[in-house]
Amino acid sequence: MKKLPRVSIVGATGLVGRSLLDLLAQRKFPLSELTLFASSRSARKTMDFLDDELEVEELTAEAFREKTDLALCSAGRKVSYMLRDWIEGTDIVVVDNSSAFRMNDEVPLVIPEVNPEALVGHRGYIANPNCSTIQLVMALKPILDNFGLRRVVMSTYQSVSGAGQAGIDELSAQTVALFNQESWEPKIFPYQIAFNAIPQIGPFGPDGYSEEELKATNETRKILGLPDLGISCTAVRIPTFACHGESVMVETEKETSPEELRAVLAAFPGVKVVDGPEDNLYPVPSMTVDLNDVFVGRIRRDLSAPNSFHLWIVADNVLKGAALNAVQIAEALL
Ligand SMILES: NC(=O)c1ccc[n+]([C@@H]2O[C@H](COP(=O)([O-])OP(=O)(O)OC[C@H]3O[C@@H](n4cnc5c(N)ncnc54)[C@H](OP(=O)(O)O)[C@@H]3O)[C@@H](O)[C@H]2O)c1
Repeated sequence: MKKLPRVSIVGATGLVGRSLLDLLAQRKFPLSELTLFASSRSARKTMDFLDDELEVEELTAEAFREKTDLALCSAGRKVSYMLRDWIEGTDIVVVDNSSAFRMNDEVPLVIPEVNPEALVGHRGYIANPNCSTIQLVMALKPILDNFGLRRVVMSTYQSVSGAGQAGIDELSAQTVALFNQESWEPKIFPYQIAFNAIPQIGPFGPDGYSEEELKATNETRKILGLPDLGISCTAVRIPTFACHGESVMVETEKETSPEELRAVLAAFPGVKVVDGPEDNLYPVPSMTVDLNDVFVGRIRRDLSAPNSFHLWIVADNVLKGAALNAVQIAEALL
């Protein structure tokens, strides 16, 4: 039997890192040793894993190389650039949640239910797609396979947890401050996020699209292997704590119907259809917190164009949008 890998979580104290730790325990991930890395700020904090209490270590090249066969990384882009250099010439494999190398041609960008074949021949570095991309592509894939895809237009309704623990803290503090008529300073979001909606996630590029909008369009094309797919996105931050919602218009190549779309979506692994207009049934973010699946509802014809349909897609951005997808990639690698 092959030796079990020594696994490291890099960014273990963050929102995604904590979820990675829970998932490794829940799914009984096969490992021989687990090391938790974070910044010097968190060194010597302790975190529970199964029956053990593990001490968080400051990330250094030496410690990382010495203790790792497989790393699950969620510590932001800067750390990912370092890790890619550190694994050069070693057999260490990194599954990275940051956007640092997602669009690099040598780096597979993988959703295990959608394009597991991209893992074959990887060179030690594998990227996890962006949270809003993953839930979109999970719904697009069965539509593409059955009816073809001509065009996708999406607007997102993204929770503050997409900006990490600091995003959650800012919405909490601002809500309390506003109720108490106290002053507050925006740090993470460009405007007031409590009781508001902000149509900007990340900096804008020259054509007016935000970084998050370009991630969703470019990553979707790469994962589906459709470099010319017509797709555009408006990404909006809203004051929910968990789970992202997406309103998506898809134009299919072949004739189909809402009934057929429901059937192919429901048959796809990891997707659940929650769609019953007669009972006011559709997924909402509060319903999908801590759930692994991607939920789709409000499936209906566009009344203004042929072969066009609207979907409403909701998923837990920290789970399927990040930690769960990364652990599924690691499981597929093993
Ligand atoms: N949140 C989401 O929904 C989501 C979804 C998809 C992808 N991601 C990506 O996942 C990554 C982490 O996101 P998050 O939401 O978990 O953020 P977070 O809550 O802010 O956590 C960041 C983590 O990175 C660690 N870190 C920061 N600088 C470090 C350094 N120099 N060396 C070692 N560790 C360092 C932090 O450690 P300390 O505690 O010591 O500061 C913390 O553990 C980001 O790249 C993000 O883009 C997030």
